This record gives sequence, structure tokens and C-alpha cells, in this order.
Amino acid sequence: MDKLIDVDKLFDLTGKVAVVTGGGDGIGKGACEILASAGASVIVSDINGEKAAAVADGINASGGKAASIVCNVLDDDDLERLIDFAVETFGTVNVLVNNAGLGGGGRENPYKIDRQYVERIYSINVIAPWRLALLAAPHMKQSGYGSIVNVTSMSSINADPNMAIYGSSKAALNHMSANLAHDYGPMGIRINCVGPGATHTAALATVLTPEIEARMLARTPIHRLGKVSDIAGAILFFAAPVSAWISGQTLMVNGGGVQTLD
Ligand SMILES: NC(=O)c1ccc[n+]([C@@H]2O[C@H](COP(=O)([O-])OP(=O)(O)OC[C@H]3O[C@@H](n4cnc5c(N)ncnc54)[C@H](O)[C@@H]3O)[C@@H](O)[C@H]2O)c1
Repeated sequence: MDKLIDVDKLFDLTGKVAVVTGGGDGIGKGACEILASAGASVIVSDINGEKAAAVADGINASGGKAASIVCNVLDDDDLERLIDFAVETFGTVNVLVNNAGLGGGGRENPYKIDRQYVERIYSINVIAPWRLALLAAPHMKQSGYGSIVNVTSMSSINADPNMAIYGSSKAALNHMSANLAHDYGPMGIRINCVGPGATHTAALATVLTPEIEARMLARTPIHRLGKVSDIAGAILFFAAPVSAWISGQTLMVNGGGVQTLD
């Protein structure tokens, strides 16, 4: 059959430049690999330079285009260096995936955390994505294509014990994105969030027990926990032209259910 709609083109990022934070492992690594597979040149950034380099090497070895850089998203200078590096290396920034994030894990007993902890979690989960959006936006505007994808969490809508700081920071990121969509829309830039449910990564492995997994599965209609590729697919959807008229939204990717630690 002749193609009535060119589906490949809707997901094509050939000629586009993508920047991913926390790209050395887990969901960030999956994002780098799927964006490169869709044709983007990818800047793999991570606080761990070896992991970032390994992901970029893997993409280049498969015939894709990638470069890596050390970036601790808690460091303002690193954020500037990251965007400068993307522009110097591949010419611009079209896609920004704010993936690096911390906190939660049921470890946020209100009486056992201090102000420093709260500031750190909000810095990585809210302030860094805001700052990177600001730094990337002029390049997106100038290039004529911009999509920002923020990785939030199901914790942004769940309410659970010992999750107040992580959960509220991810909720802030959802709502900040919905608001920024109004600021950036006129510049031709979309901004959306992907909210993973429990997804098999190193971070999840630190809290998952067989009992917790069984409880999660009992409340998950698609009867398994998430794979990195499940989340990466949603990130590609928001990065690519297929979602050209979608902005300010949060998509939960969670097997249709709710996975909590309690
Ligand atoms: N895995 C899940 O179940 C799950 C669920 C909901 C939300 N999330 C969110 O997904 C995102 C990725 O989580 P993951 O499970 O893939 O984690 P992960 O631990 O598997 O990977 C995180 C990566 O980020 C890097 N990193 C850590 N601190 C950093 C910093 N300050 N600056 C730059 N890079 C840093 C690490 O080196 C690592 O490569 C986070 O925002 C997390 O909150 C994950």
C-alpha cells in the first residue's frame, strides 16, 4: 500500500541535536539510544564521565552520532558548559531531556531529613531543568525546532509515606512545565513531561524487594514493572514531530497502574 501518512517522518529526528542529562545509565541511557536511533545527534551528559562516554561510544559504534561530557546538573557552570558543548559540537540544541533526578525511595522521613537535603533534591529535580530550559531555548528558537522533555515520576501524583520532598519536587516539575509551555510556545518550543512508574534501573534496584514487587504487580494491569525502553518510547514521542501540537502535558508511563513502595 502507498503510505497515506509517512509514519517514519513523524518520528524522524535526522539533523536534530538532542541533549540528555544523566544519560550514562538507566532511563537516560535509553533516551540517548532511542533519540540517536531516530537520527538525532546526541550529547550524552552525566556526572559519571566514564558511563557517559560508554553510551556515546556505543551509539557511534552502531553508526549513530554522539558525544559525551561530564555534567553535574547541581553545578550551574556545568549546565552552561553542557549547552555550549552541544552548540560547539553539533551546531545547536533542538531536544533537551532533563532526566537526571534524585530522591524518594521511601527514605524521606520528615524528621530525619534536613534543609540541605530538601534544597539538594529541589535543585536537581526542579532548578536544573528550569535552568537548562532557559539556556537551551534561544538555540531552539533560532533553529526553528525545540522540544523539552522532563522526566518526572508517578510520585508527582501519588501520596505516600516518606516521599514528600521527591514527590513534591516532581509535581513542581510537572506544573512548571505546564506553565513554561505558555512562555515557550510562542518561540516554537514545546515542553512536556514523562512520568515513569517503577522501572527496572539501578535506582529502582536499591529499593525493590520481592515483597514490594508483588504488591506493585497486584496494582498494575499490564502485569510487569517498566523497562527502560517503555519510558524511552514516550520520550521519543514528545521529542519528535509526531507530537507537534502537544505541549504542557505529563504522560504517566506505568502499565496502567500504581506502583508504590508502601
Ligand atoms: N527507575 C524508576 O523506577 C523511576 C521512576 C520514576 C521516576 N524516575 C526518574 O527517572 C530519572 C532517571 O532515573 P533512573 O532510574 O534511570 O536512575 P539511574 O540511577 O539508573 O541513572 C541515573 C543517572 O543519572 C546520573 N546522575 C546522578 N546524579 C547526577 C547529577 N547530579 N548530574 C548528572 N547526572 C547525574 C547517574 O550517574 C546515572 O547515570 C530520574 O529523574 C528519576 O527520578 C525513575
